[in-house]
Amino acid sequence: MMKNFKLGILGSGQLGRMTVQAAANYGISCHVFAPDVKDSPAGQICNTLSNADYTDKIALKKFYSMVDAVTCEFENVPSIALEMAPKECIKSPGITALKTAQNRLCEKDTAKFLGIPTAPYWKIESIDDLANAMRFLDSNAILKTAKFGYDGKGQIRTKTGDDPEILWKEINTDIAILEYLVDFKSEISFLLARNIDGETIIFPPTINYHDRGILVHSTAPAILPSNVIEAGNDYIKTMADHLEVVGLLAMELFLTQENTLIFNEIAPRPHNSFHWTIEGCKTSQFQQLIRSLSGLPFGDISVIGRWHMRNILGHSKEELTKGYKSSGKYVHEYGKQKTKENRKMGHITWNE
Ligand SMILES: Nc1ncnc2c1ncn2[C@@H]1O[C@H](COP(=O)(O)OP(=O)(O)OP(=O)(O)O)[C@@H](O)[C@H]1O
Ligand SMILES: [Mg+2]
Repeated sequence: MMKNFKLGILGSGQLGRMTVQAAANYGISCHVFAPDVKDSPAGQICNTLSNADYTDKIALKKFYSMVDAVTCEFENVPSIALEMAPKECIKSPGITALKTAQNRLCEKDTAKFLGIPTAPYWKIESIDDLANAMRFLDSNAILKTAKFGYDGKGQIRTKTGDDPEILWKEINTDIAILEYLVDFKSEISFLLARNIDGETIIFPPTINYHDRGILVHSTAPAILPSNVIEAGNDYIKTMADHLEVVGLLAMELFLTQENTLIFNEIAPRPHNSFHWTIEGCKTSQFQQLIRSLSGLPFGDISVIGRWHMRNILGHSKEELTKGYKSSGKYVHEYGKQKTKENRKMGHITWNE
């Protein structure tokens, strides 16, 4: 590793915070850049911070004069912020990966191109597009904004016979995607780390439980037929190599009743469903991210036992209290200043 290696992080949320924590253990200091960095989860504990807009070129130039590598903590960082990085700065996840993950249509088109199965979907830019696509529907579907969706926001469930005009008004965007509702048995996520030399490592997959589009509970490693795990590993490796990801790539998939995998989306960053790796894996997702950017070798990803992770959402303090009282539970609070309904405030993990 380079002496005095400094990692830049674009974004100030909990994923940035846990990256800072992992970096600290390796003696690496972090510089967090965000428009709301003061008192933010990552800003509270980093070594240096820049409080500026992601499009502020002067602030970005200064930031880049102080870091050796940069990583995006969430995929909706305006791409200009990453594009401003000088040639010698290691860029994570990479410009193509970032741009692809910012657009649901783009990521589904990429999956399709690579032979990764997706549910049937349509690009929707007008009421006419929607009305046309809905003529092909013979079951339930979901209309999603193509950009800026997270935690199930910007999604409407729909069925044949619904009025396209009302739906289009409600979704309130200029570009959307209509996709078939998958009748899944479970939701699974895969996670891969890829370093600057293109070497990869894949974590064992996780099974996820959502409530109204928000992840509430994960268990890992997922117990699945070996051919399902092999297919998932193949899909995520193909996608990561194609996008030339540097750092982490997560892929969310549906497991159908017939035990086949259907692509949902990618996230080129640490993923909520792999927070269990902090205690459950010899090397966590955050440590693996730091290693892939700083030139350190990948760590061992053996898992000890079976793990659970529960998100602490909004005002639900009860689980936190229980977590602190229980000897087998690991509590993580993100230090968020404001509690909002369904906001991710922390998480708890435990071994089965
Ligand atoms: N085509 C689909 N068929 C069935 N369920 C779906 C489909 N698309 C989304 N869902 C459900 O809604 C959840 C959220 O959808 P999606 O992952 O696309 O959105 P998101 O806002 O990016 O969510 P997150 O940030 O939590 O990953 C999924 O995990 C799944 O439970
Ligand atoms: Mg999702």
